[in-house]
Amino acid sequence: MNVIRFSDLCANGQAAGQRVFIRADLNVPQADDGSITEDTRVRASVPCIQMALDAGAAVMVTSHLGRPTEGEFKPEDSLAPVAKRLGELLGREVPLVANWLDGVTVAPGQVVLLENCRVNPGEKKNNEELARKMAQLCDIYVNDAFGTAHRAEGTTYGIAQFAPIACAGPLLAAEIDAITQALANPKRPLAAIVAGSKVSTKLTILKSLSNNVDQLIVGGGIANTFMLAAGLKIGKSLAEADLVDAAKAVIEAMKARGAEVPIPTDVVVAKTFAVDAVATVKKATDVADDDLILDIGPETAAKLAAQLKQAGTIVWNGPVGVFEFAAFENGTKVIAQAIAESSAFSIAGGGDTLAAIAKYGIEDQVDYISTGGGAFLEILEGKTLPAIEILMTRAAD
Ligand code: 3PG
Repeated sequence: MNVIRFSDLCANGQAAGQRVFIRADLNVPQADDGSITEDTRVRASVPCIQMALDAGAAVMVTSHLGRPTEGEFKPEDSLAPVAKRLGELLGREVPLVANWLDGVTVAPGQVVLLENCRVNPGEKKNNEELARKMAQLCDIYVNDAFGTAHRAEGTTYGIAQFAPIACAGPLLAAEIDAITQALANPKRPLAAIVAGSKVSTKLTILKSLSNNVDQLIVGGGIANTFMLAAGLKIGKSLAEADLVDAAKAVIEAMKARGAEVPIPTDVVVAKTFAVDAVATVKKATDVADDDLILDIGPETAAKLAAQLKQAGTIVWNGPVGVFEFAAFENGTKVIAQAIAESSAFSIAGGGDTLAAIAKYGIEDQVDYISTGGGAFLEILEGKTLPAIEILMTRAAD
């Protein structure tokens, strides 16, 4: 990735005494009382901020939180809980600054958090006047918000056009490096697990990966549509009948390259979608008309686990069954454990996947866990994310 790296600017002294504007992704889940329920993104933002402080910069950090209405700040839009958590992690107070567009007071060696940038009118639509105004606040713009890199907004794109220097923070750079290593230059065999409820939301990813991966493991509702494409019955399971031909095309594209989409040979079914539903293991050829497939069966899980253990690279997005219900978690658990035990370079992303990783306690055994949701998926689709594209353009200036 040909971008200016903030770490290089810090290492060669270019950030000392400079006003540095860091766009982080501090969009974290919160409980009703506003407390942060999962702080991965706050923790992931710390190295960049610390790097800027250590380099002697005057540091401004901002992020969006949720999807507020522009120009209508409400208490629940506030980054106050984030400022508190960031302060704990940095071991210093992080003042929260509201109405910051007309100027920010911050001295070298200090850090401030600028209130929710998505409340500023023009942020979402990347208004040029807003972007120019924000660019004037700084000498160096740093994008470290991988989770928002698929959005061309004022703080992710526009400001990068007009700031004197626009560069990538360490988190953004690490995410791109890890995904590039996994997809552009993988150790083979390259296995991808793409699971989730709908083929339609992940069809572009499936098509894109079918040109590259050696095994394309599908799960959840996506696997049901692939089972239909393979001529199997799926009862009343979730599937998209209108995408059966698209699934067939993916299977054929993989076959033509000598690669495969492993179709489940056994499944776990129930008559209802409920936490206490009775789970029955069946051969994939025996699914009844009133069955709901809620997980892959043990034979399929064992086969996939064996393949994953042989893989050189694994990309994981999506649990393969309803892992939130104990009776239907086995497939996802076995896959998670196989990834943990595999010597492959593994990379995982997406909210449900992160929840599964946490549930099975394999955080330390996955080589790279992405902070991106939509951004991770768009990279898997083969897209160049706008926030990265503008940094590449600026690096070529
Ligand atoms: C996310 O949570 O995926 C990012 O913070 C982006 O948020 P958005 O979908 O509201 O742009």
